[in-house]
Amino acid sequence: MSLSHSEQVAAILAAQRDRPGALLPILHDIQDALGHIPPDAVAQIANALNLSRAEVHGVITFYHHFRTTPPTRHTIQICCAEACQSMGSERLVQHAEKKLTHREQSEYELHPVYCLGLCATSPAMMIDGQSHARVTPEKFDKLIQKLGSGT
Ligand code: FES
Repeated sequence: MSLSHSEQVAAILAAQRDRPGALLPILHDIQDALGHIPPDAVAQIANALNLSRAEVHGVITFYHHFRTTPPTRHTIQICCAEACQSMGSERLVQHAEKKLTHREQSEYELHPVYCLGLCATSPAMMIDGQSHARVTPEKFDKLIQKLGSGT
């Protein structure tokens, strides 16, 4: 029998709540286990750590990494930090936004990120955790096409 979301959250809280600075590792563990941090887990976390719901919610929304809805099929992160910006990442973001408007948008999530550690091969992006360097709009289209065909 699989555990409910709240049982999984309770197990993570039990394992982590006593360590110093427990909130962030708890949020990471919950997201790793459930794919997101369900809104109803906020009260559970707040109670366990003796924090207000607003404090927990504030941390979740502060870090772009955390999500409160289940993941969609593909996550696209385009680096918008300095090195990538100087190599055209802004144009790439605009291209991606336009491109994805014409596709089934629910399948993709587009996020700006700030440095993927690939500055020497900018502009850089990640699709589902896999990095891609020197991404031109044409290369972006090819990568998206590949995802769509499942190859
Ligand atoms: S600035 Fe884009 S990867 Fe570092």
